[in-house]
Order: sequence, then structure tokens, then C-alpha cells
Amino acid sequence: MDATVTATPFSTLIRTASHEQHTEAETSTFMGDLLGGRLGVDAYTRYTEQLWFVYRALEEGARALAADPVAGPFIQPELMRTAELERDLAHLRGDGWREGLEPLPATAAYAGRVAECARTWPAGYIAHHYTRYLGDLSGGQIIRDKAEKTWGFARKGDGVRFYVFQEISNPASFKRGYRELLDAVNADDLEKQRIVEECKRAFALNTAVFRELGEEFRAA
Ligand code: HEM
Repeated sequence: MDATVTATPFSTLIRTASHEQHTEAETSTFMGDLLGGRLGVDAYTRYTEQLWFVYRALEEGARALAADPVAGPFIQPELMRTAELERDLAHLRGDGWREGLEPLPATAAYAGRVAECARTWPAGYIAHHYTRYLGDLSGGQIIRDKAEKTWGFARKGDGVRFYVFQEISNPASFKRGYRELLDAVNADDLEKQRIVEECKRAFALNTAVFRELGEEFRAA
């Protein structure tokens, strides 16, 4: 067993292990163009659509995992995003937002993997939970600010509700609590290592979605 696995708090291990891929996701061409104000609201809409497929898989899976001894402690209603995404999509696409909505191939693969973990491997589900929700509570706030300014959404209003966690008044303290949950995760060292690997996979799945979005939307 790698001694660093045992000695390092799990929250540090998972953050450090995914650091490089975080930079890659953050600096992807699509994200760069989107946040640089070089793409239209149609690109932002298409991105929000992809998030809906991913969060539906995360949150449908969550229901079944609430009592699970490993993943259960992570399931917290104040994180749930599906309803917010649906309000954003109704604003962006209109009341018939669900009609003709299809995931990109990379999104279908991502949501499929999340659903598979939720069904068959609760510890692996934690990797996906961490990658999305802790990211949304951190960098998500930068994305919201840019989106409001670029496409004129009301501050914390329709179009950016996905990024607004109404029931989390202190995100920094919530993230501290979340890291404590990670540090106390009910898994042995080998399983922790496998969760870290799944987290890297989760980042790669996100990057693949950005790549496909980047093929569809290019800055002028
Ligand atoms: C342009 C896009 C992004 C920006 C500007 C951004 C920015 C940030 C910032 C500022 C933090 C806080 C770091 C800290 O608290 O020390 C953070 C954390 C995080 N981000 Fe991102 N991020 C972006 C994209 C992403 C993506 C695509 C993912 C994965 C889907 C992601 C996942 C995470 C995670 C999991 C954390 C928590 C790290 C930890 O403290 O354990 N981020 N991000």
C-alpha cells in the first residue's frame, strides 16, 4: 500500500490527485471562450442542457443511496440541482424545454457512468458527487458572475439558478463540513485509491463534454 494514502487526509488526497485535470477542465477552449464572453447564449444553453442530464443521473441515483453506509452521508437535499436546472432551461428554451432535448454523446457516456456507479458502486458514486458539487460551490460562482454579465441574466435569477444554493448560506463552512465527510469516508485505503481514480475519470468525462461543446460552438 502506498504510504501517502494512509498518512494524508482523504479530502487532501482527492483534491491533489485531481489538480492537474482541474486545470485542464478550467482552461478548456470551450470554457475559456464561454467565460471570455466570446460565445452566444446558445452555447451557454447547450452547456446547461448537458448539466441537466448529468444531474438527473446524480440525483436519481441519490434517492436510492440515502441510507447507504458509504455514500449515504453525502446525500444532502440542499445540494440538489435538478429543479434549478429545469427552471433555468424553461427560461433559456421556453416552456417546452424538454422537447427534442438530447444529450451529446459525451454527456450520455458521463450520465451513464454516474448511473452505473449509483447502481453498483456507492463509493464510486462519491467521486462523481465530489467532482460536481464541490466544484459548483467553488468555481461555479465565477461562472455565474460571468454568465450574468455576459448574457444579462438577473443576479442569481432565472438562467443561473443552477449556481445558486439557496439553502447553503455559508459555502466555505459547508465545504469544510464536506471535507470532513470525505476524511471520515467509510472505506479502506484500497477503496479510497479507487475513489481517487474514479474522480480522475469524472474530470475526464467533463473534459470530453467540453470538447464536444467546443466542436459545436467556436468563437468567431
Ligand atoms: C472555468 C471553470 C472553472 C473555474 C473557474 C473553477 C474554479 C475553481 C476554484 C476557484 C475552486 C476553489 C479552490 C479552493 O477552494 O481551494 C475550485 C474548486 C473545485 N473545482 Fe473548479 N473550476 C472550474 C471548473 C471545474 C470543473 C469543470 C470541475 C469538474 C467538473 C471542477 C471541480 C472542482 C472541484 C471538485 C473543486 C473542489 C476542490 C477541493 O477543494 O477539494 N471545477 N474550482
